[in-house]
Amino acid sequence: MIEIERVLDACCGSRMFYFDRQNPEVIYADNRELETTLCDGRTLLIKPDVKMDFRDMPYPDNSFKVVVFDPPHLIHAGTGSWLASKYGILPTDWPAYLKQGFNECMRVLKSDGLLIFKWNEDQIKLSEVLRVFDKKPLLGDQRGKTRWLVFIK
Ligand SMILES: C[S@@+](CC[C@H](N)C(=O)[O-])C[C@H]1O[C@@H](n2cnc3c(N)ncnc32)[C@H](O)[C@@H]1O
Repeated sequence: MIEIERVLDACCGSRMFYFDRQNPEVIYADNRELETTLCDGRTLLIKPDVKMDFRDMPYPDNSFKVVVFDPPHLIHAGTGSWLASKYGILPTDWPAYLKQGFNECMRVLKSDGLLIFKWNEDQIKLSEVLRVFDKKPLLGDQRGKTRWLVFIK
């Protein structure tokens, strides 16, 4: 039997990396709702199931088997730019922002749960982010600009 909603995506954006963008096992959350046309004419739709702040999630401790955390990775992007529309922008106090998000992801994970973390090194090195998290990943990409990492609680 399939356990419904065992995965939480803490900041799903337009769900680009999903094979099924309406997977009933996933709660798609984000702090924005947005429908706009990008410069290439495509529609960008951010329509989360749950509107929430990943720094303060409305779930009890130990709720999910998997949490997906792909936060904004840019500190510099024009406010109205397509990059900002698509990925959002980090505030200047990004270390505290990401640390709070990471800690919340860990809190809502079950005790043996997995956190899937994605990062793009365009503007901030992964090593800087990992210093902030203060927890070693289990495994992940060791090179390339876009990194996928797995943490175990
Ligand atoms: C890199 S994008 C996610 C892209 C997504 N993984 C996809 O496949 O399309 C980062 C997302 O984090 C969201 N975000 C930023 N701050 C947030 C917060 N405090 N709480 C929840 N979502 C947040 C942004 O709105 C943006 O949609």
